[in-house]
Amino acid sequence: MCGCVEHRWGWRCCAPNPMLFLGLFLSAAPSGLLGEDTRQVSLEVIPGGPQNLLHIRAVGANSTLHYVWSSLGPPAALLVATNTPHSVLRVNWSHLLSPEPDGGLVVLPKDSVQFSSALVFTRLFEFDSTNTSDAAAKPPGKPYPPYSLAEFSWNITNSMDPATLSATFQGHPVHDPNRAFANGSLDFKVQAFSKSGRPAQPPRLLHTADTCQLEVVLVGASPRGNHSLFGLEVVTMAQGPDCPTMQEQHSIDDEYSPAVFQLDQLLWGSLPLGFVQWRPVAFSQKQGVRESAMSCQASLLHPILAYSLPQSPIVRAFFGPQGNFCAFNLTFGASAGPGYWDQHYLSWSMLLGVGPPPVDSLSPLVLGIMAVALGAPGLLLLGGGLVLLLHHKWNSGYHSLN
Ligand SMILES: *[C@@H]1O[C@H](CO)[C@@H](O)[C@H](O)[C@H]1NC(C)=O
Ligand SMILES: *[C@@H]1O[C@H](CO)[C@@H](O)[C@H](O)[C@H]1NC(C)=O
Ligand SMILES: *[C@@H]1O[C@H](CO)[C@@H](O)[C@H](O)[C@H]1NC(C)=O
Ligand SMILES: *[C@@H]1O[C@H](CO)[C@@H](O)[C@H](O)[C@H]1NC(C)=O
Ligand SMILES: *[C@@H]1O[C@H](CO)[C@@H](O)[C@H](O)[C@H]1NC(C)=O
Ligand SMILES: *[C@@H]1O[C@H](CO)[C@@H](O)[C@H](O)[C@H]1NC(C)=O
Ligand SMILES: *[C@@H]1O[C@H](CO)[C@@H](O)[C@H](O)[C@H]1NC(C)=O
Repeated sequence: MCGCVEHRWGWRCCAPNPMLFLGLFLSAAPSGLLGEDTRQVSLEVIPGGPQNLLHIRAVGANSTLHYVWSSLGPPAALLVATNTPHSVLRVNWSHLLSPEPDGGLVVLPKDSVQFSSALVFTRLFEFDSTNTSDAAAKPPGKPYPPYSLAEFSWNITNSMDPATLSATFQGHPVHDPNRAFANGSLDFKVQAFSKSGRPAQPPRLLHTADTCQLEVVLVGASPRGNHSLFGLEVVTMAQGPDCPTMQEQHSIDDEYSPAVFQLDQLLWGSLPLGFVQWRPVAFSQKQGVRESAMSCQASLLHPILAYSLPQSPIVRAFFGPQGNFCAFNLTFGASAGPGYWDQHYLSWSMLLGVGPPPVDSLSPLVLGIMAVALGAPGLLLLGGGLVLLLHHKWNSGYHSLN
């Protein structure tokens, strides 16, 4: 904890700065989120179709959020925020499954929609990193043919748990000539929340009732080489002609995310109206212990032509034929260090949400340590300031009494 000043010779940091410290204390207080603190959240598999549409409806006092997760086509999520507690999702299955699904999925009343966007997960990449020593190399090795996630079949049977507001889409390639997924799957684990908190599993992203978490898990699939790295292609909806903003936030090393100093975010709109947030870390073990932490690299966002993408019926149904898309790649791990090869396991998590992203605050433990580390001089400084202030107040009160 230290204040930094810009010197002629560059940045220089000094001893603990009480004002900065006070600032940290203040910002550690729960921040007033723009959204609602708690929501009535319900989870439903939309009936009448091939079991592939999960609707999360999160109702607050003055608003409803709709998250629709679908594996019709590539796995995709719609997020729709409305300004009424009464908005509903309407799905016309025959329309949605037709070649022209436009309008087959709507949120009513239409004029209550304040914000809507979408994410589509289009491809799973695999690279042979055997001869790649440069961790920042792009691509991180010799690419194998990618898996198109539109050509996976997905199953959410028996995985829906209303108690934890979660469900899992378990995916297998429809055509799997080498039986790579005979003992494995690619899982999209979706979870909603009725209030803010932090899961027990790393990376322990802070969530609110306005967010929804996705954990992508590749488990048990046979890699095509001894040193396979995996990656994921993510497509987002643009707001107008411009791609959403990609942002790196630096955070303080904390007990919640040891040694991960960064939070990556994709922001829709400048307010922002919605976001995707993740820590640049993936895990090669289910327990998510520190030894299994792998880096997660995100590429820049590029505009992408809609026709070059596998079509997501829900995105087309909700947004119609117009809409600009942008894409980025995530790659997990490096040729050295922990990897998928350890246990044939890879997990990465992100939050999808409406409004500004949750602001990470310091944990009570770290605040305690800081208080001790700051020690007597700092407390004296703070205390001295307070005494002076009170003294001044008391004096002025005394004078006004006269
Ligand atoms: C909901 O709207 C009412 C009336 O507009 C307002 O008084 C109230 O503060 C709002 N509640 C929340 C939680 O935003
Ligand atoms: C559903 O969509 C089909 C095809 O567009 C249409 O014929 C039918 O009337 C719709 N059903 C309802 C209940 O709106
Ligand atoms: C790695 O390098 C060795 C030696 O240059 C070569 O024989 C091998 O084919 C390379 N492997 C890959 C996957 O590029
Ligand atoms: C989906 O999962 C259920 C139960 O685990 C299983 O019986 C069924 O065969 C699976 N369906 C597909 C298409 O994988
Ligand atoms: C799947 O697991 C079984 C039993 O553990 C094993 O015999 C089989 O070889 C595995 N198949 C593949 C393709 O890895
Ligand atoms: C993978 O490792 C095994 C044993 O270490 C080795 O025999 C095999 O040739 C390696 N395969 C590749 C594709 O490098
Ligand atoms: C993602 O990576 C693949 C394979 O390396 C590449 O073909 C594609 O253009 C990349 N996409 C983006 C948006 O960078």
